[in-house]
Amino acid sequence: MFQPEKVCFGALLIFTFLFCVDTQICNDRQTLECLPICSPDCINGYCENPGQCGCNVGYQLDKTNTHKCLPICNNTCGHGTCVAPNLCECNFGYRFDNLTCQPICTEPCVNGTCVAPDTCECFTGYRKTESNLCLPYCSNGCPYGTCVSPENCTCNNGWDKDSSGKCVPHCDMDCGGGSCASPNVCECKTGYEKSRNGTCIPVCSNGCLHGTCIAPENCTCNDRWLKNNTGECFPICDMDCGEGGRCVEPDVCECLSGYENNENGTCIPHCSSGCPNGTCITPDVCQCNEGFNKTHLGLCEPYCSSGCGNGTCVEPDVCQCTTGYKMNWDNLYHPTCIPECEDCNGTCVAPEKCIYFFEPQSTTVDEPTECNDVACVSKADTATETETINYYTKVSSETTDSNYDENIKLNSDKVYAQNIW
Ligand SMILES: *[C@@H]1O[C@H](CO)[C@@H](O)[C@H](O)[C@H]1NC(C)=O
Ligand SMILES: *[C@@H]1O[C@H](CO)[C@@H](O)[C@H](O)[C@H]1NC(C)=O
Ligand SMILES: *[C@@H]1O[C@H](CO)[C@@H](O)[C@H](O)[C@H]1NC(C)=O
Ligand SMILES: *[C@@H]1O[C@H](CO)[C@@H](O)[C@H](O)[C@H]1NC(C)=O
Ligand SMILES: *[C@@H]1O[C@H](CO)[C@@H](O)[C@H](O)[C@H]1NC(C)=O
Ligand SMILES: *[C@@H]1O[C@H](CO)[C@@H](O)[C@H](O)[C@H]1NC(C)=O
Ligand SMILES: *[C@@H]1O[C@H](CO)[C@@H](O)[C@H](O)[C@H]1NC(C)=O
Ligand SMILES: *[C@@H]1O[C@H](CO)[C@@H](O)[C@H](O)[C@H]1NC(C)=O
Ligand SMILES: *[C@@H]1O[C@H](CO)[C@@H](O)[C@H](O)[C@H]1NC(C)=O
Ligand SMILES: *[C@@H]1O[C@H](CO)[C@@H](O)[C@H](O)[C@H]1NC(C)=O
Ligand SMILES: *[C@@H]1O[C@H](CO)[C@@H](O)[C@H](O)[C@H]1NC(C)=O
Ligand SMILES: *[C@@H]1O[C@H](CO)[C@@H](O)[C@H](O)[C@H]1NC(C)=O
Repeated sequence: MFQPEKVCFGALLIFTFLFCVDTQICNDRQTLECLPICSPDCINGYCENPGQCGCNVGYQLDKTNTHKCLPICNNTCGHGTCVAPNLCECNFGYRFDNLTCQPICTEPCVNGTCVAPDTCECFTGYRKTESNLCLPYCSNGCPYGTCVSPENCTCNNGWDKDSSGKCVPHCDMDCGGGSCASPNVCECKTGYEKSRNGTCIPVCSNGCLHGTCIAPENCTCNDRWLKNNTGECFPICDMDCGEGGRCVEPDVCECLSGYENNENGTCIPHCSSGCPNGTCITPDVCQCNEGFNKTHLGLCEPYCSSGCGNGTCVEPDVCQCTTGYKMNWDNLYHPTCIPECEDCNGTCVAPEKCIYFFEPQSTTVDEPTECNDVACVSKADTATETETINYYTKVSSETTDSNYDENIKLNSDKVYAQNIW
C-alpha cells in the first residue's frame, strides 16, 4: 500500500545526496568549517575545490582523469614509468640513471653509446666489429697497419706510410731491379735475380766474365776489355802477342810452350841454345844471321869466304890468324893468313922458316936487317933500291875487330905498306 510520508522522506534523501555531490557540505559534524568535497578522492592530491583536485608537490593532474595526479619525472623516463617524482620504474633491460631509464649494456660500450639493452651504437668514425666492439674506422682499410683512431692508420713494424697514406713494406737494402714486397724482402723484376744480400741484380744469362752485368742481358765489359761477336769480353793487348801467344788479360800475352815473352810482352819463339848470332824463328829453330853458318850443333858460327886457312874465322870474313901466321893483305878482299918469319929477306914458307930464292949480295943470310914500323929490309938490299924488295906487313895477330872496313882504316899504315908495293 502507498504511504505518502515515506515517499516524501525518500525524495528528500535523494535530493540531499545530489546536493551534497554538487555543493560543499559539512560532512564532519564535529568541525565548524565546510570543506570541499571531491568524489572520488583525489589521488596524489587534495580536493582543492569541490570536485577539483590539486596535486601534491612533484605531481601534476592527469589530463584524462581529473581526480588523479601523476608524478613528474623531469627527464622523461623513456623506457620506464614515472612512479614517483623524478623516480622511474624502468622496463627490463633498463636502469634508472640520471633521472631517466637508460639501457643496460652488460659489456660497457667503448667508443660508442649504449642505445638499447646490450646494443652499442658506435661514435662517428668507429665501426662495429663482428664481436660487437666499436673500433676506429679507416676508410682505406689500413692493410699492414692498425687503425688507431678514425682515419688514422698506423703502419705495422717494417712498414712505412707512403704519400697516399698506404702502408708499404720497408726494405733496409735498395731492392735495385726489384721492389720491396714485404719487410726486407725484395721481389725481383723479370731479368733480375736476388743477390746474396737480398737485392735484385740484373742477370746476364751467359755470365759476364770480365764485365759488369748492368742490365738484364747487358754485360758491359771492364776497362780494356771489349765485346766480341759472341758477346763475351776479350782483353786488349796493345802489343801483338805473336803467333805463339794469346792475349789473356789487358796487355798480358800468354805464350804457347816453346815461346816466351820478350821485353814488350810479345810471345817470341824460344831457342834453348839462346841462338847467338842468329834469330830464333820457331821454337828451338835458330836462323843464323847473314855471314854466319849453322854448325852441326845448331849454333851459328861466322863464315869466312876465304876459308880462313891457318886461322880462325872469328867474324864473318874476319880471320884471326893462328900464332906464327899473319894476315896477308895482298888481296884486300880475300886476306889470308901467311906464315911469319922474322928478318926473312927470302920467302917465309912456314912460321920462322925463311927460304931465299935469290942469292943475297955479299952478305950472309944471317946478316942483320933494318926494320922500321912498316917493314924489314935486308941491309944488303938498301944499297940497290931498284931491286925487288919484299915488304912484309907486320900485321899483328890481334886484329880481330869485327868490322872489316874499320880494321883496314885502323891499320892504314899497314895498308900503306901494301899500296906502295
Ligand atoms: C625539474 O625541472 C625544473 C625546471 O626544469 C627544476 O626547477 C626542478 O628543480 C627540477 N626538479 C628536479 C627534482 O630535478
Ligand atoms: C643527465 O641528463 C641530462 C639531460 O638529459 C644531460 O644533459 C646530462 O648530461 C646527463 N648527465 C649525466 C651524468 O649523464
Ligand atoms: C676505442 O678507440 C680507441 C682509439 O680511438 C682505440 O685505441 C681503442 O682500442 C678502442 N677501444 C675498443 C674497445 O675498441
Ligand atoms: C695517429 O695516431 C698516432 C698514434 O696514436 C699519433 O701519434 C698521430 O698523431 C695520429 N695522427 C693523426 C693525423 O691523428
Ligand atoms: C749487395 O750486393 C750487390 C752485389 O752482390 C752489391 O753491388 C751491393 O752493393 C750490395 N749491397 C749492399 C747494401 O750490401
Ligand atoms: C747496355 O747498357 C748501355 C749503358 O746503359 C747502353 O748504352 C747499351 O745500349 C745497352 N745495350 C743493350 C744491348 O741494351
Ligand atoms: C769471344 O771471346 C771469348 C773470350 O775471349 C772467346 O772464348 C770466344 O772464342 C770469342 N768468340 C769469338 C767469336 O771471337
Ligand atoms: C818493344 O817496343 C818498343 C816500342 O814499341 C820497340 O821500339 C821495340 O823494338 C820493341 N822491342 C821488341 C823486342 O820488340
Ligand atoms: C856472335 O855471337 C858471339 C857470342 O854471343 C858474340 O860475342 C859476337 O859478338 C857475335 N857476333 C856478331 C857479329 O853478332
Ligand atoms: C855458309 O854460308 C854461306 C853464305 O852465308 C853459303 O854460301 C855457304 O854455302 C854456307 N856453307 C855451308 C857449309 O853451309
Ligand atoms: C897454311 O900454311 C902452310 C905453311 O905453313 C901452307 O903449306 C898451307 O897451305 C896453309 N894452309 C892454307 C889453307 O892456307
Ligand atoms: C935483308 O936485307 C936487308 C937490306 O936489304 C939487310 O940489311 C939484311 O941484313 C938482310 N937480312 C938477312 C938476314 O939477310
